[in-house]
Amino acid sequence: MKKKLTSLAAIAALSAAMLAGCSSAAKLETKAEGAQKPILIQGPMPIEAEKFAERLDKVKVEKSGNFVFYKGKLDKYPVIVAKTGKGMENTAAATAIAIEKYDPAAIINQGTSGGHDPSLNVYDIVLGERTVNIGSLKTGHLEEGEGIEPTNWIPMDLMASEGSAGEDPDAEKIRYYDGDENLLAAANAVKDKHKKGKVVEGTIGSADLWNNEVDRINWFHENYGTSVEEMEGAAAAQIAGAYDVPFLGIRILSNNKTNGGQYDPNTAAANQDYVYEVVKQYISEIKGK
Ligand code: 5AD
Repeated sequence: MKKKLTSLAAIAALSAAMLAGCSSAAKLETKAEGAQKPILIQGPMPIEAEKFAERLDKVKVEKSGNFVFYKGKLDKYPVIVAKTGKGMENTAAATAIAIEKYDPAAIINQGTSGGHDPSLNVYDIVLGERTVNIGSLKTGHLEEGEGIEPTNWIPMDLMASEGSAGEDPDAEKIRYYDGDENLLAAANAVKDKHKKGKVVEGTIGSADLWNNEVDRINWFHENYGTSVEEMEGAAAAQIAGAYDVPFLGIRILSNNKTNGGQYDPNTAAANQDYVYEVVKQYISEIKGK
């Protein structure tokens, strides 16, 4: 009888231990899942997003408006590629939707760009140490018949205050969005994987504008310190900043008017190959923590 009691007690103890074990395993699993916020990679055009999306495992495609989200895994970690469409408005909307829907741990906006710095060549890559909206400008005061003077335009910071951007002197400054330090570190750590050009830190300028006037390009380069121009980065950076999500722009030069660099669409694929390495590196750093 005593023996039976003892074995019953042992079974009870064992099942209690198993239950406790189960629930802590379940807890751990929930924690791990909770910690695995996806990394969001944005590309404006099909040639700037689909190559990356093809390299993800277990891809599920979701759409919202015009925006396509390829949800998959890279090294078993959740990664979402977003095809945002071109320009600031598409990008801002796609960024806000992705943040609300998927709560990303970090956002990389990547694609092609045009050089503002004559020392950068087609296939070189700029890591956005900072990103700036170069379409946010206030003109000087001129009366009818006095013409237009773009070189007298001054920067306008729409985030300076909630008052009138046209009247508020505090708004007459350039707003730079800083690239996230950890994303920059991951990108710098795999610089050597990009063999077709160099990888440098710099300033990415964005606007719904394609500049072909070299004097205007030089004006932005001198006054804003731009390395390259494109049409999306600052919109994504602004919205990522509004939600406090770490952000980095990564742009390859597909053309450079300042040194005769001819447009090459194959740069889009080369940039995705490099960004793939950056994301792998960033994931390994997250997993190591
Ligand atoms: N100026 C502006 N956008 C450029 N792009 C590539 N080169 C340039 C350039 N010189 C990118 C934009 C947009 C598409 C037209 O290509 O980011 O998505």
